[in-house]
Amino acid sequence: MEPLSRIPHPQSRIPTLKAAVLASGRGSNLQALIDARGDGRLPVDIVLVAGDKAQALALRRAEAAGIPTLALDPSGYASREAYDADLFARIAASGAELVVLAGFMRILDASVLGAWSGRIINIHPSLLPKYTGLHTHRRVLAAGDDEHGCSVHFVTAELDGGPVLAQASIPVLRGDTPGTLAERLLAHEHRLLVATVAAIAAGRFTHGTEGVLHDGDVLQAPLQLHDGELRAATA
Ligand code: GRF
Repeated sequence: MEPLSRIPHPQSRIPTLKAAVLASGRGSNLQALIDARGDGRLPVDIVLVAGDKAQALALRRAEAAGIPTLALDPSGYASREAYDADLFARIAASGAELVVLAGFMRILDASVLGAWSGRIINIHPSLLPKYTGLHTHRRVLAAGDDEHGCSVHFVTAELDGGPVLAQASIPVLRGDTPGTLAERLLAHEHRLLVATVAAIAAGRFTHGTEGVLHDGDVLQAPLQLHDGELRAATA
């Protein structure tokens, strides 16, 4: 019998998209991608996990999965532009075709974004365009909203302002705190990110001069995640 190490991985014959993930903290969204890749749900090779904090749990998760990591300390750079230029030069050198921001707590300089237009996505914990920026769970509760959610969008120079590809929604429950809301939403973030990256890897989303195309048609509204599937929003 062939030794286990010489048997090709069942996914190895499927063309894979090379992705880099940027993360500053806990890395649970990164872990969702790693797990989905591991059990064959995501034909994506994570070629690099990079971050601005050497102690981030995200980097430990990547190391445990055998993924190359890069911790780049911003304090060693004269400007945001210089930091981002170096970071994205290293990302390009990794061979990544897609960059996934998964809890990367830095605003990217516009100077690096042009070359990566349509190839950088971010997961944000709100139903964009509502609640860009921080403290989204607290702000949803303060506003008395009965619905909350998460969005995956293409990254542009406008903070959390790029075109939204897909969203998942959850009800706000009586007695919710920012903590309970964040925790309940997180499981949906993981599913939404995996489903959206899978759709990108399958070539279903593209970004051109006419905007975002999904299956060749201009995306009029973000897709919605239902039962693990991305579907067109119902009017
Ligand atoms: C998530 O809530 C994500 O939406 C936001 O930052 C958080 C990152 O969590 N951008 P984790 O590091 O993936 O656990």
